[in-house]
Amino acid sequence: MATSPAPQPWSQRFESALHPAIAQFNASIGFDIALIEYDLTGSQAHAQMLGKTGIITSEEATKIVQGLEQIRQEYRNGEFNPGIEAEDVHFAVERRLTELIGDLGKKLHTARSRNDQVGTDTRLYLRQQIRDIQAQLRQWQTVLLDLAETHVETLIPGYTHLQRAQPLSLAHHLLAYVAMAERDWQRLDEIYARVNISPLGSGALAGTTFPIDRHYSAELLGFGGVYGNSLDGVSDRDFAIEFLCAASLIMVHLSRISEEVILWASEEFSFVSLTDSCATGSSIMPQKKNPDVPELVRGKAGRVFGHLQGMLVLMKGLPLAYNKDLQEDKEALFDAVNTVKACLEATTILFQEGLVFRTERLAAAVEADFANATDVADYLAAKGVPFREAYNLVGKVVKTCVSQGKLLKDLTLGEWQVLHERFEGDIYAAIAPRQVVAARNSYGGTGFEQVRQAIQEARGAIRSS
Ligand code: ARG
Repeated sequence: MATSPAPQPWSQRFESALHPAIAQFNASIGFDIALIEYDLTGSQAHAQMLGKTGIITSEEATKIVQGLEQIRQEYRNGEFNPGIEAEDVHFAVERRLTELIGDLGKKLHTARSRNDQVGTDTRLYLRQQIRDIQAQLRQWQTVLLDLAETHVETLIPGYTHLQRAQPLSLAHHLLAYVAMAERDWQRLDEIYARVNISPLGSGALAGTTFPIDRHYSAELLGFGGVYGNSLDGVSDRDFAIEFLCAASLIMVHLSRISEEVILWASEEFSFVSLTDSCATGSSIMPQKKNPDVPELVRGKAGRVFGHLQGMLVLMKGLPLAYNKDLQEDKEALFDAVNTVKACLEATTILFQEGLVFRTERLAAAVEADFANATDVADYLAAKGVPFREAYNLVGKVVKTCVSQGKLLKDLTLGEWQVLHERFEGDIYAAIAPRQVVAARNSYGGTGFEQVRQAIQEARGAIRSS
């Protein structure tokens, strides 16, 4: 009986072709082509390992490595575009390799399964993405730090419960986001170590009968270690979930600052104006200038959280070891990576050139409230009045001022002294917003001295990483 080519890439066990809709349903080539560079690199290391251990000859290994390199060039030149018939990127590469170097191409898959192969590819991909995102975080921090440096002495109302609380140095406010980005960076660094473990050589699930050298292929690929259990090696996706947690937290932070920009750009706050390079107009209301960038970032956060949730649910009921469900990890991961990168880039540009702080509005805002009330109480407490007593007294003063449409600074010295005999002429200096901010010189506080030091510390942390 003449042997016709197998209807699909896997084996001669099958007699008829897949239903076209099922072939489409089963295929991952539409998205896992994003792994191709990592697949080629992983396969080159595998081939070298096969050569070194004598499972194939070293000449064979060299030819395979060269063939894979040729596919890389074809792909980069736009000449390698496998279609649905390839099923996935792994089969696509093996098939092309066999076209290029003949039957030798069929030796590449010795002592390997697509299960350990795809796990290797995904880790190599994520490793690179983590480093890229870390670099973007550094960029984001640098833009915030530059902005902070120019705004150490710009005051902005500080809020709790979105009610005016105490005035702040604008730099201090921005530095809070530098600190969040620092934790994001650290978290990625810690996760990197667990992403960077090689499953290659776990085989389909149980290891292999060939005398492979897993440590050698891991070393070639720059992995920090190898999975010690083959079942775990092919079915672990903890590293992807950890990454999605870290990605979600980055999005939480970007979404929070986005929300602030949206508020600040509103007519009601008017703390910032949006430059033309980062704002968009309305199709019907000619007066509008919309903060689309921060709104999109805020919106996209939900997508990334969704991928985290999706991946947790994907994993929770999976028996060992590989199950095809795992093919679903990729689109979630790719979309989370692409979303985080796009949001970091857009937010960095927004803060670099898309916002102008309206310092005159900010200066007026910090003059026009009772955000210095704590300082009146602190003033009395520093003169020996028990804080709680001072606090109660100032509460009454604020109430009176509100009913008379006055601010604390409008009270005459006589009025102050009627309230408490410890008030003296220096009360006016003590409650001026600049002084209110400067005086909070405790470590980590908003006092100008602290803020200048915090900027230096943050720059130092960035330099030393
Ligand atoms: N495309 C598959 C995936 O992404 C590759 C692994 C296939 N393994 C298998 N046993 N069918 O998960």
